[in-house]
Amino acid sequence: MRGGGAMVTAERATVRLVCAECGAGYPLDQPRYRCDCGGLLDVRQPLDALRGQISRELFDGRLGSRDRRDQSGVWRFRELLGDYTPEEIVTKPEGRGNLYEDERLTAWAGVGRLWLKHEGENPTGSFKDRGMTVGMTQARRLGARTVACASSGNTSAALAAYAATAGLTALAFVPEGKVALAKIAQTVAYGARVIQVRGDFDAAMRLVQEVARAPEYGVYLLNSINPFRLEGQKTILFDALQGLGWCVPDAIALPGGNLGNTAAFGKALAELRDLGLIDRLPRLVVVQAAGAAPFARAFAGGFAAGSFAAVRAETLATAIRIGDPVSYPRARRAIALTGGIVTTVGDEAIMRAKAAIDAAGIGCEPASAATLAGVRALVAAGALPADAAVLGILTGHLLKDGEAVVVYHGATPPPPGANPPLTIDPTLDAVKALLDAR
Ligand code: F0G
Repeated sequence: MRGGGAMVTAERATVRLVCAECGAGYPLDQPRYRCDCGGLLDVRQPLDALRGQISRELFDGRLGSRDRRDQSGVWRFRELLGDYTPEEIVTKPEGRGNLYEDERLTAWAGVGRLWLKHEGENPTGSFKDRGMTVGMTQARRLGARTVACASSGNTSAALAAYAATAGLTALAFVPEGKVALAKIAQTVAYGARVIQVRGDFDAAMRLVQEVARAPEYGVYLLNSINPFRLEGQKTILFDALQGLGWCVPDAIALPGGNLGNTAAFGKALAELRDLGLIDRLPRLVVVQAAGAAPFARAFAGGFAAGSFAAVRAETLATAIRIGDPVSYPRARRAIALTGGIVTTVGDEAIMRAKAAIDAAGIGCEPASAATLAGVRALVAAGALPADAAVLGILTGHLLKDGEAVVVYHGATPPPPGANPPLTIDPTLDAVKALLDAR
């Protein structure tokens, strides 16, 4: 017996892929990423069958269990992910990042309460592990031999690591010269074939979709266009809200790049509400880098027809250097559902916020810090109340982008919070001179 009772298992036969645009349904047992109409697909979970079968108590009762699935902050919520058997699941486990509350950062952001859920504390250092454990499990169920993604570095690291766990071949298409060194190093080390594309992330994304469409390569695509990735990423919120005792904050802030997480968060919140696990919806606050902000521009245009246009992206937060986000339509729905906000912050504000998060002993990569920078800017502008309770998502680990740290702290003139390394001769006098000077 898997997870729940026989009734749930029987009803799960109705899990299927549904087009978000035209409502057409497709079976789960074939690789498919788009509807015949071109729309993106969602995994439709059988919420009617699950209602009354799952509860906060069911999930809370699994905390502390030795079952590997319960130890994963993804598979602990398995009833909402599909009907995989324990043997099928490819898990490390993942989804065990801390939920931080630091008074200095709350004050810095200017809000009433601030929690930071650290998804950089996943096995490969980013939230991508949550999507990848489900995506790779589905890849194995489909009998895929080769999996692929385009990536600004974190997806490729997660793809490579989970493919290695599952025993599959991995292909990672990355924009040449635009990926942080540590992410390339991970992807290479975990054994993926790294294909550097002369072009930006968006070019690599277009290319990998062409590769996945060509039947002769037999490649299963594991970018967030793949709806199973988003099923895994839903659990960021399941897990964070469970950590908050199922109390819903006023707002949930996250960085937006390819918009997979934004889409996943909208779906997660809708499911939790429909199942009665939460009693209200928080506002989603999506923060984009000012140089890579097509979603924010569309939001400012009221998501009217023609308000969305791809841009040539530029930001030092390389993880979100994305100008043509694949999940735009489903992310738009998530904003509409939650009365959400989409905003932008400049690179300087991102790096200042990152320095604050780092100096609090928490740390994150630049893209993650957009979250805090965005919240601070929205409070200052009066768009978020100063007494708001906010959950922020830190998406990647500090060590993902060491170059950004070294450049920031070594800059002249020194930016806020600069802490450059010092160099001295190996003498006590030199130490004394240095400490006296301080
Ligand atoms: N933060 C980090 C650390 C990321 O790596 C990404 C995306 C995002 C935020 C944006 O999330 O795409 O769901 O809006 N990184 C992808 C990659 C594109 O290839 O690693 P999104």
